[in-house]
Amino acid sequence: MTNSQRKILVTSALPYANGSIHLGHLLEYIQTDIWVRFQKSRGHMCTYVCADDAHGTAIMLRAEKEGRSPEEQIAAVKAEHEADFAAFQIGFDNFHSTHCEENRELSSLIYTRLRDKGHIAVRSIKQAFDPEKEIFLADRYIKGDCPKCSAADQYGDNCEACGATYTPAELKNPYSTISGATPVEKESEHYFFKLQDFDAFLKDWTRSGTLQNEIANKLNEWLEAGLQEWDISRDAPYFGFEIPDAPGKYFYVWLDAPIGYMASFKNLCDSDKGQAAGLNFDDYWKVGSDAELYHFIGKDIVNFHALFWPAMLSASEFRTPTAVNAHGFVTVNGAKMSKSRGTFIKARTYLNHLNPTYLRYYFAAKLGSSVDDFDLNLEDFVQRANTDLVNKLVNIASRTANFIKKAGGKLSDNCVEEAMVQDFINAGDQIAAHYEAREFGKAMKDIMALADRANEYIQEKAPWAMNKEEGREQEVIDVCSVAINLFRQLITYLAPVLPEIAEKTAEFLNLDDMNWDSRSNILLGHEINKFKPMLARAEMDKVTAILEETKAELAIENGEKPAAETKAADSKKQEKKKKSKGPELREDGNEVIADTIEFPDFAKVDLRVARIVKADHVEGADKLLQLTLDIGNGETRNVFSGIKAAYQPEDLEGKLTIMVANLAPRKMKFGLSEGMVLAAGPGGSEIYLLEPNDGAQPGMRVM
Ligand code: 2FM
Ligand code: ZN
Repeated sequence: MTNSQRKILVTSALPYANGSIHLGHLLEYIQTDIWVRFQKSRGHMCTYVCADDAHGTAIMLRAEKEGRSPEEQIAAVKAEHEADFAAFQIGFDNFHSTHCEENRELSSLIYTRLRDKGHIAVRSIKQAFDPEKEIFLADRYIKGDCPKCSAADQYGDNCEACGATYTPAELKNPYSTISGATPVEKESEHYFFKLQDFDAFLKDWTRSGTLQNEIANKLNEWLEAGLQEWDISRDAPYFGFEIPDAPGKYFYVWLDAPIGYMASFKNLCDSDKGQAAGLNFDDYWKVGSDAELYHFIGKDIVNFHALFWPAMLSASEFRTPTAVNAHGFVTVNGAKMSKSRGTFIKARTYLNHLNPTYLRYYFAAKLGSSVDDFDLNLEDFVQRANTDLVNKLVNIASRTANFIKKAGGKLSDNCVEEAMVQDFINAGDQIAAHYEAREFGKAMKDIMALADRANEYIQEKAPWAMNKEEGREQEVIDVCSVAINLFRQLITYLAPVLPEIAEKTAEFLNLDDMNWDSRSNILLGHEINKFKPMLARAEMDKVTAILEETKAELAIENGEKPAAETKAADSKKQEKKKKSKGPELREDGNEVIADTIEFPDFAKVDLRVARIVKADHVEGADKLLQLTLDIGNGETRNVFSGIKAAYQPEDLEGKLTIMVANLAPRKMKFGLSEGMVLAAGPGGSEIYLLEPNDGAQPGMRVM
């Protein structure tokens, strides 16, 4: 370990072992993973641990419903979670479970220390009890009629029909959602953690820079209102750890869940991997440790992490967190994630259709360090992925690498733009500061501004044009070598967000290391490998398919026929109908000429900026001009366009226009037309070619 190397332990909240990972979870795991990868790239000793949160009534009931033991249930979910995390390139150093020996021992130890110091109170309380199932009922397992409007099947806190709020005891005709039985009141002994003993400590701790301002303010309100004892025990039957000195009583899931962070780290320390890395549990957890400890969480579980947890740690003689980093909730298209709208998207459903790289980038591009909610706007998501990653970033390498490869595969011995490459290297300091502060959006903005500069440089030098001229071979290599060096800088900066692209780039550039500091040398006379495509375009119809699949999952949960099947059957019926009846007619008897199209249909149209490099008359054609279009990437297209009445060929050369780049080629009398340029106007001599604004470059996608 060097002097400036930090020891950092990072956690994300532990997902419950009774459900799948979804987009809401992924925001947090991706945010944490980016920060961890950044720290590792900077050469710090950063360790990222997590685990499944395996205890509690919900998991026990879920296992019962599935007809398996809780242990079988949590093992199956753990395997599913691990596969999802691996696919999204979440690089945990250890993923464990709270149902493990390490956690049992640590939970016992912490509890015993709290008890021995007098921070545990024991007293009897009355609670609702299901006499049939013989289980105490948390409020969420009791339903009944609203005491105000009598609406049936309302939960015990508020009525969905009239909006009234009340306590579960006020419900009329209450019933247990587990067995249907009428709950009775029953008394039992409970164990409480006396949080109020930590009032002074928490007032100090929450204001010592450990929390974001918004969170510190919220906690301040709670602290001012006065802290209450926290009930940490549950009666059998419960899936969890029995309290050491209280047979039949179990630790409430939220007592041992954060201790699961320690348990997962302990499990890592004791493993071969942890030993090899020299990780020592006490180094990180003893009071006064020089290691940093960060918890990434959602803003809804701040009380557990910024009140109970630091109090428990300090009372049991462990160090407290360096900071708790909270984030907001994920919304989709401006609304809460919803199963019926198909926006409650599971990790696996996303993976069935789209590359995780897009989502990692989109999260990074819009994330800051605040607790504001995060809106995943699906159209913006597709556009951002394509514009930034495909058009701007990967394009830099894809349009220059082949010139190097064809010339022998070695970068130039000289850097003809040293100042510019140096600028890119220097920009790394500010970008690093943004990453460190979890201002990923600002980091992405800086990186994309550099990518714009790289593209401008390539565009201005136009190596594809140089390449056609004799005697300029070295210049082509020089220019493309600069571009490849710029690309390497950009990927170094993006590696925490795009680990897969970084890996492909390391292979392409023959580099062992893409860590932050490795970027400081310019690659000269360096052998590179063949460039292989790194990332395909994101397609809107894949997003639509994700929404449909999510809706179908809901239908299956509800025991209905999935809407997707019904829809497919409906559209088949429609097609059949159309075929048998001929063209569809409007009320006035005319043929319908233009149906509206859905966004996914529109998104299929690849609109690109193109430069008209050549325009010629076509012999024997009255209306057509033959255009040669540069569409970026060194690619040209031949297009016949009916604009002769409006334009002289020489006026068109050099102009930028917009074209449909993925129109199937059409064989015309005069040759093959490979696309279509877009124009407006009534026709004849009044045809106006669509021209993009300043700053457009051939190959840019138009949305
Ligand atoms: O809210 C949740 O999903 C919990 N399972 C998070 C636990 S985080 C930690 F404290 F264990
Ligand atoms: Zn009501």
